[in-house]
Amino acid sequence: MANIEKVLLLDAVDPVCGAVLREAGISVTTHGKLAKEQLIQELATHDAVVVRSATRITEEVVAAAGGRLRVIGRAGTGVDNIDVKAATRKGVLVMNTPGGNTLSAAEHTCAMVCALSRFLPQACAALKAGRWDRKTYLGSELHGKTLAIVGLGRIGREVAKRMQAFGMTTIGYDPMVPADVAAGWGVESLSLEQLWPRADYITVHTPLLPHTKNLVGEKVFAACKPGVRVVNVARGGIVDEAALLKALDSGACGGAALDVFVEEPPTDMTLCQHPKVICTPHLGANTVEAQRRVALEMAQQMVDMTKGRPLTGI
Ligand code: NAD
Ligand code: MLT
Repeated sequence: MANIEKVLLLDAVDPVCGAVLREAGISVTTHGKLAKEQLIQELATHDAVVVRSATRITEEVVAAAGGRLRVIGRAGTGVDNIDVKAATRKGVLVMNTPGGNTLSAAEHTCAMVCALSRFLPQACAALKAGRWDRKTYLGSELHGKTLAIVGLGRIGREVAKRMQAFGMTTIGYDPMVPADVAAGWGVESLSLEQLWPRADYITVHTPLLPHTKNLVGEKVFAACKPGVRVVNVARGGIVDEAALLKALDSGACGGAALDVFVEEPPTDMTLCQHPKVICTPHLGANTVEAQRRVALEMAQQMVDMTKGRPLTGI
């Protein structure tokens, strides 16, 4: 049980978060993204803070925040933008809302696969620029193609289900998912070495960890069919950006769909501007439904804390 009287809401967290907290008698301050100095100042007068992706709660911020802060909540999956070790050392609890945006991220991934196969963004841009070009944008059917899914967690398995409806064969790799469980989702479980040569499309759905950093890199492109297409709606850096650019130029990679980047927003636009790349500015979870769900879940988790109920999302 924790005494949470005042919560700071940042990064345009859906207003339902504030409404639920207020209803429980908790007072709320709302800001957009704050500069570091202002963030530190605000944290000193709040018991808890809720962020999405934009605000980074670094070791320096945690250390400078004063002694009042007790909870950091991330309205989203993962806690990449929070220094959990520094928070834990200071006795500050870190919570997130895994699952609240799963369907939105899965749908965005499927939209990316479809858009890649038919050059939708490129053809749309060409027509808007006055070019009626049907020859350049000769697409390919998804039916009968093989989708390799790396990471069969919440999002990976929802992507499998949806792309099977297009007639794709789904194969996958996840060290934590037994082969018979994956088979139950219609996914043939393979080692990474077996996965790469069979893939027409690769989609990654793992967290960014030391062992998943640059997981799809030069060696993978060399092991894949020429022209393999790659989708990353997980985290920037799981696909090696330098290796991807090289593979796109050489034809080893036939196209890439990127929602996430090593640097967000990217300052080097070479990848985004590549003619074979389609891209979105980290929109995977950016739907009305997902944002409402994660905001609601986070508020409920904080209210539960104040009432001494069992905690989730920690
Ligand atoms: P999850 O925890 O349910 O699943 C992740 C899976 O990856 C787990 O099953 C785990 O065993 C597996 N995994 C870990 N290391 C692996 C490896 N080396 N090879 C293969 N599999 C491995 O997570 P999730 O909810 O499915 O989210 C997946 C990713 O998507 C996360 O990075 C998350 O932050 C990201 N995400 C992005 C957006 C967006 O807006 N673009 C939205 C939601 C989630
Ligand atoms: C997430 O991990 O939940 C996201 O990438 C989505 C977001 O923060 O908008």
